[in-house]
Amino acid sequence: MVVKQLQFLLISLMCLIICECKVYSKCEFARTIRNEGITDRGQLGTWTCIANYESHFNTKAINRNSGDYGILQISHLYWCSDSNQPGKGCNITCKSLLADEINTDITCAKKIFAEHQRLFGDGFSAWVAYQNYCRGDQTNWISGCDI
Ligand SMILES: *[C@@H]1O[C@H](CO)[C@@H](O)[C@H](O)[C@H]1NC(C)=O
Repeated sequence: MVVKQLQFLLISLMCLIICECKVYSKCEFARTIRNEGITDRGQLGTWTCIANYESHFNTKAINRNSGDYGILQISHLYWCSDSNQPGKGCNITCKSLLADEINTDITCAKKIFAEHQRLFGDGFSAWVAYQNYCRGDQTNWISGCDI
């Protein structure tokens, strides 16, 4: 019995160490992107919905199948470099999208948004989560937030 409990404790500890990452609350995320210049409440709600369904607000989220990185699951196909040299559309490394601070993610997301707005008339359409879950009014995501 004691051995089992010790085992559990050890595994929990290892998990804590391995899964060391910053997970934003929805309001913290919304406030952070507002501070980066996105002030429209409709847009704040939609971005918050997207981050929820893309990463559950986990800054270290990686989809190894598609090669998407960070809280907004930005793709290595077009926007960030897999190497240690910054590159591709946002001139950044994919690794930089996993930092606790998400200003790099937001700057890149704005660029992706602008590109998709120009090409397809809807900047959010770059995100699969938007197409599946976040269309229409999403202001309820920020309704309890101090913004
Ligand atoms: C990309 O960023 C680096 C610094 O990280 C800079 O030296 C370089 O000029 C940038 N390249 C482009 C195309 O903006």
